[in-house]
Amino acid sequence: MIIEPLGGTWTEAERAGLARVLAECVAGGASIGFMLPVDAAEIAAYWAKIEADLAGGWRVLLVARERASGEIVGTVQLAAESRRNGRHRGEVQKLLVRPGARGQGLGRELMAAAEAMAAARGLTLLFLDTSEGAAGACALYDALGYVRAGGIPGWALNPDGKPAANVIYYKTLAPGG
Ligand SMILES: CC(C)(COP(=O)(O)OP(=O)(O)OC[C@H]1O[C@@H](n2cnc3c(N)ncnc32)[C@H](O)[C@@H]1OP(=O)(O)O)[C@@H](O)C(=O)NCCC(=O)NCCS
Repeated sequence: MIIEPLGGTWTEAERAGLARVLAECVAGGASIGFMLPVDAAEIAAYWAKIEADLAGGWRVLLVARERASGEIVGTVQLAAESRRNGRHRGEVQKLLVRPGARGQGLGRELMAAAEAMAAARGLTLLFLDTSEGAAGACALYDALGYVRAGGIPGWALNPDGKPAANVIYYKTLAPGG
């Protein structure tokens, strides 16, 4: 597996690959900003917005590709704060691994790559949120040393329409990596 940043203008295969990863995660019940049934147009619009946003330089998109085929099987984003009072800070967003590629350490590897990218940019504070329960990934963030800062009851609807609390996490990074 190769983990690398994806910038510039994407190929149709990359757009389709990212759409497939997101659609499969939503279909599997992950609470990542979308509802069931999976809406392909909504997913395409989301990725188009991200593709355009990358040019601004404050967002980094990492993809995990199969070495032989180049197919995208996982992804994570780092959204660095652009305002001058928060430029030490970034949000980890949309950590996604295709259901068929899970359980092999790819989620951990993507998070490690996002943290390395953050450290290389001089960020010292990461934060993220995830849904409490099966639609989120608290166990993974707990295992990776993220600290629970709290949570908000009824924060968002899971894909099946049930309201769920979120859990807000942070992690401090050593200055200079
Ligand atoms: C969360 C996700 C990215 C993990 O991907 P993965 O490649 O299976 O992760 P790893 O193989 O690196 O597993 C890392 C550890 O987290 C655990 N883990 C992974 N996903 C988990 C989940 N949803 N709930 C509980 N534990 C989980 C694994 O058991 C593993 O533990 P171990 O290393 O002690 O064995 C993947 O399950 C996914 O895409 N889920 C749907 C999207 C989602 O919920 N993303 C997070 C949104 S905030």
